[in-house]
Amino acid sequence: PPEDTLAVIKPHTERKEEILEEIQARGFSISHLKDTVLSREMAEEFYKEHRDKPFFSQLVDYMCRGPCTMMVLTKENAVDEWRAAMGPTDPSEARQTAPGSLRARFAKDMLENGVHGSSNMEQAHQKIQFIFGDIGAESVIIDG
Ligand code: CMP
Repeated sequence: PPEDTLAVIKPHTERKEEILEEIQARGFSISHLKDTVLSREMAEEFYKEHRDKPFFSQLVDYMCRGPCTMMVLTKENAVDEWRAAMGPTDPSEARQTAPGSLRARFAKDMLENGVHGSSNMEQAHQKIQFIFGDIGAESVIIDG
């Protein structure tokens, strides 16, 4: 069955149109899309799993610097497929091990790595809810 994941094109990522084309070429449906400027509070909440990391405050600064393109991507196995499409977090590693990946092609460095994706289905569910609210309700069809 199709699965949803949350994908983000981070602020100031260049060649956004190419990334959007690539998403479609790779067989994802973009079920929801919106551009959002995150507040610091939202960015901190969004990345709460990383709050103890040494790069946390830089990460929050970066994510608030301009609009993020927030998307729900839908496909069989979307969580893992989107992670594979992005490639490793570190773009220099991505260029070596996954040269066709989005981070190999569009990321600047380890921090400003261009795109984000949920790491598992539970997180996908939680982050979609956080960014888009209760969109699941839209697809409930009440019969008769
Ligand atoms: P993302 O996949 O969105 O998840 C956490 C983010 O933190 C990551 O992409 C990078 O933007 C950033 N990040 C992860 N590791 C580092 C690091 N070692 N130094 C700086 N930024 C990092």
